[in-house]
Amino acid sequence: MIWNIGIVGFGHVGQGFARVLMEKREYLRRKYDFRYKIVGIVDRSKGSIYRENGLPLKRVIKEVEEKGEFVSYLQRMSVEDLIKSGNLDILVEAIPTDVRTGEPSMRYLRIALENGVHAVTTNKGSIARGYRELKKIADRNGVLLKFEGTVLSGTPSINLMRDALAGCEITQIEGILNGTTNFILSMMERGLSFEEALHFAQEKGYAEKDPSGDVDGMDAAIKAVILANVIMDANISLEDVSVEGICKISSQDIKEALQQGNKIKLIATLIKKGDEVAVNVRPEKISRDNLLYSVDGIENALLIHTDNLGRVFIRGPGAGGKETGQAVLSDVLAIHNHYFSRDLEPRIQAALFPIFSEQFHLLHGTQNSFS
Ligand code: HSE
Repeated sequence: MIWNIGIVGFGHVGQGFARVLMEKREYLRRKYDFRYKIVGIVDRSKGSIYRENGLPLKRVIKEVEEKGEFVSYLQRMSVEDLIKSGNLDILVEAIPTDVRTGEPSMRYLRIALENGVHAVTTNKGSIARGYRELKKIADRNGVLLKFEGTVLSGTPSINLMRDALAGCEITQIEGILNGTTNFILSMMERGLSFEEALHFAQEKGYAEKDPSGDVDGMDAAIKAVILANVIMDANISLEDVSVEGICKISSQDIKEALQQGNKIKLIATLIKKGDEVAVNVRPEKISRDNLLYSVDGIENALLIHTDNLGRVFIRGPGAGGKETGQAVLSDVLAIHNHYFSRDLEPRIQAALFPIFSEQFHLLHGTQNSFS
């Protein structure tokens, strides 16, 4: 089977995904028997391109780098046209997030799932707002909805807790979920004022021109909502989270904390009690013996409290085009492996997924290709 993929949103993340796909084409084929074509890309400012038999990614990326917009294979195609072309197996959606409404990501994901197209999104707004609704649509249509890149970018978080920690009940999570604020606080520890650190973060490309979503804690809060709803089975929205950002943290606060052997970090805390999940995001003093103490700069981390394993700790990059592109790749491969894992015996695959297996066997000519 060759997966036909469409990309909506070709900014840092869309391009990051396209690059890792392109660079790893051979590796992905060898290791996972994963083959793909990018058939269409739609972007609000760059335009839309489509080619039924697959776009030449190298050329597309080069043209975008040089001209800032698509040049060849131009079409007047809307996202809806692309999804309904009948030529898509997977939609990758990486448009900017609207945390208040989740739109238009919600609408694109709905259309994809309703039309039997698997969806991978990095969009925090739609998953925080509409996870339950979208999951129902996906289940009803027999397709998968994946969103690893919404929290901790490429560092495993959602899939880690859902798959690798399956069977563990997760009772508490403490996390550094926002790279920009963690970077600013780390720079303030080195003597910069809040304004200087923010300016430095903007120069480095970590913080947006309008950094309010990060520094006021909303970005961390929306990620916490996703974790609460998806991992802890809550049904909360952004309005249920008590949020305090880092704008009021002064150089003096940072200095005093350091003198006491502590660091100030923006921490999201999720605590599950019965069916209730309490979530808050606020700056906290973190002592040296806390695993979150040494997570500096743009890194993110999760300290996960489980019943079967005790504490599990994960840290890694929390932002970036390539890093979030890796999250998308891991989701796309999870969809592929769901149907074509080399670990599943061919006869089990044939029984579970007769249509895909049939296509696969036609393509490869033998059932032994899986082993
Ligand atoms: N603005 C976010 C951060 C990007 O700084 O963590 C990743 O969601």
